[in-house]
Amino acid sequence: MPNIFPPELVKRIVRRTGTPVYIYSQKKILQNLNSYKKAFSALEPLFCYAMKANSNGAVAGLLAKNGAGADVVSGGELYRALKAGFEPGKIIFSGVGKTAQEISYALRSGLLFINVESLEELRAVEAAAAGMKVKAPVSVRINPDVDPHTHKFITTGTLGTKFGVTFSEAGRLYAIVAASRHLRAVGLHFHLGSQIYSPKPYLLALSAAGKFIGSLEQKGVKLSYIDIGGGWGVKEGGGMLPPALLAGAVHRELNGLKDLRLILEPGRSLVASAGALVVKTLYRKTSGAKNYIITDGAMNDFIRPALYGARHPVTALEKRKGPDVKFDVTGPVCESGDFLAREARLPLPRRGGLLLILSAGAYGFSMSSQYNSRPRAAEVLITGPRSWRLIRRRETRRDLIRNEIQIP
Ligand code: LLP
Repeated sequence: MPNIFPPELVKRIVRRTGTPVYIYSQKKILQNLNSYKKAFSALEPLFCYAMKANSNGAVAGLLAKNGAGADVVSGGELYRALKAGFEPGKIIFSGVGKTAQEISYALRSGLLFINVESLEELRAVEAAAAGMKVKAPVSVRINPDVDPHTHKFITTGTLGTKFGVTFSEAGRLYAIVAASRHLRAVGLHFHLGSQIYSPKPYLLALSAAGKFIGSLEQKGVKLSYIDIGGGWGVKEGGGMLPPALLAGAVHRELNGLKDLRLILEPGRSLVASAGALVVKTLYRKTSGAKNYIITDGAMNDFIRPALYGARHPVTALEKRKGPDVKFDVTGPVCESGDFLAREARLPLPRRGGLLLILSAGAYGFSMSSQYNSRPRAAEVLITGPRSWRLIRRRETRRDLIRNEIQIP
């Protein structure tokens, strides 16, 4: 059990909130941000936290207070980012399908730039800016066709995915920006994927981007930012890979681009290791050759194991005597794909015993749903060795039908 979750404190939290509950360590989130800052100190980049990883206002607010900016991918995330206290001038807006309303909202908010991903989107940004009589700051998202060697669902930097545009298309987009009275080119962006375990893909993309930026300069287009996205890997159950590994490599590759300010968009690496999902053992059973622990947490609370086959370590809050037994940890949802862990090994937990699913601070709550009409879990921020705060109430049964309209 990582010492960021003291068992006595977790028990106290659960007595008040019930289960399932997400718990996040404030200390660990700040440690993660600081290790990025330290590793990259020579480059002084802007860290734009990818809100999608964990968009709770208290978590995001903590990062905002400590100097981070935000990367948002919807009007909803922009709203959350502003509410959480990020300075508008440190927010960037990414994503392939921004609506006209979202684009206007972004321009009204005065954010740093919009990452555009297609010609038609660029035209939509231009139209919105013209309507508002402003000059929209944009950056083009390149698809450098670099394989980040990760799960196919979270690969974004290769051709054949919907993301970004080729360098030649980007050349056309920057020319349109240069000729427009309502657009201003400020940066270049790429995001290769998530769970990247080597600096190499970043280097390949950076090197191609560097050449392209050189060719833009020859055409008189001068950029201010190079945004290399997020995606730095986290070992499930461990922490993020040393950011110095990435920083050293990026530093060398950025040599020719000294005038550009670096932007990173880390999501998972800031929050994954700081969070756990606490669930309660409801029943134990053996069926066929398999043992099951059935908990009150399920795939609607935490979908990563079911969706990506992610392996998150499971640990029992109370140490139990006895030999390790092999279990699947599953929830009550009516699907065989509903599991939180497969082939976990631990001594048989007692009924009512608490289990922690580790490394669940990113893409945990933010991907949760009410599937099977299960109210979403509560969220808690651990603020000190003995202190914590509820940062989202558990949903109630009423919440399930709150927006439904009864036909008399
Ligand atoms: N920037 C952009 C434009 C992104 O699309 C993403 C993630 C990030 C930054 C942050 O990437 P990170 O540092 O968190 O790896 N639900 C999946 C992950 C999807 C990531 C999508 N984009 C999962 O649970 O593994």
